[in-house]
Amino acid sequence: MSDTLLVTGATGQLGRLVLDQLLASGIEPAKIIATSRDVAKLSDYTVKGVKARIADFDDAASLDKAFSGADRILIISTDALDEPGKRLRQHLAAVAAAKRAGAKHILYTSMPSPETSVIPFAPDHLGTENAIKATGIPYTILRNGWYMENLFMALPHALETGHWYSSSGQGRLAHIARADAARAAAAALASPSGESRTYTLTGGELRSTDEIAALVAKATGKPLEVVHISDEALAGGLKSAGLPDFLIPIVVSFDANTREGHINMATNDLTTLTGAAPASLTVFLEASKARLAG
Ligand SMILES: NC(=O)c1ccc[n+]([C@@H]2O[C@H](COP(=O)([O-])OP(=O)(O)OC[C@H]3O[C@@H](n4cnc5c(N)ncnc54)[C@H](OP(=O)(O)O)[C@@H]3O)[C@@H](O)[C@H]2O)c1
Repeated sequence: MSDTLLVTGATGQLGRLVLDQLLASGIEPAKIIATSRDVAKLSDYTVKGVKARIADFDDAASLDKAFSGADRILIISTDALDEPGKRLRQHLAAVAAAKRAGAKHILYTSMPSPETSVIPFAPDHLGTENAIKATGIPYTILRNGWYMENLFMALPHALETGHWYSSSGQGRLAHIARADAARAAAAALASPSGESRTYTLTGGELRSTDEIAALVAKATGKPLEVVHISDEALAGGLKSAGLPDFLIPIVVSFDANTREGHINMATNDLTTLTGAAPASLTVFLEASKARLAG
């Protein structure tokens, strides 16, 4: 009999895409459990036969009910970045519940190089990876690179002014489409493999911020110059722009992390898992030009 597959955080942007992929690949809907803090938002999946259950990583009792009978559990990392320590506690609760439920495989959405990364939330991911390994249950760690869609945060404002303030220097990264990360997660979740593996999921081409800016300018027809500044100056600019205090060191650390080479990788892992090539940033920017240019 085929495995019962469970996706946490199913109403999130990634979670929905994973469910779409599972259904598109022909997995029987009754073999899919979608969990969320708010199952009412999953009605478009329950009408198709997907089972929806309430799971809140802050409520261990909800996790025991939600994970019951699941063979392979995909734990999607939460977005709780506002309170130090909270996210790791949430993830550890989910890992412990997966073990109590007797899951035979745990999957988790991590980040690239959490051992060396300078990003403040890297220890959340490393701590979760280690906790999963300590269960003794076979696992798949999906170290998701930065999504192309993250560019929607900085670029519309940068295009308005023609200046993209950055402390990433000449550091390079290979953005991945969120849909590709979802395809990889769905493929790994639906796989019968009991092997323990760690994948680093990236796009196909490494680029610096200057190189990305040139592509953006070409796609939108608007001038865009990268203004290279220090981490301190970037933090000051973000503060003046009204970014919440807890987010400022996180956003600055993305640039520092790139500058220091901790995300300087383009792997073949996406293709290994999905059989398909990664989406191209050039095509993404062309398709997104209206949204980018505001
Ligand atoms: N690699 C990247 O560039 C990148 C970018 C953005 C985010 N991320 C990470 O990837 C995750 C998924 O990305 P996304 O774009 O889908 O984010 P999103 O749409 O903001 O979704 C947030 C996710 O956190 C879940 N969540 C929050 N609190 C929870 C709790 N108490 N218990 C269980 N789940 C909880 C939500 O589940 P429900 O609302 O359904 O309960 C939802 O799946 C994020 O949460 C973040 O950890 C990575």
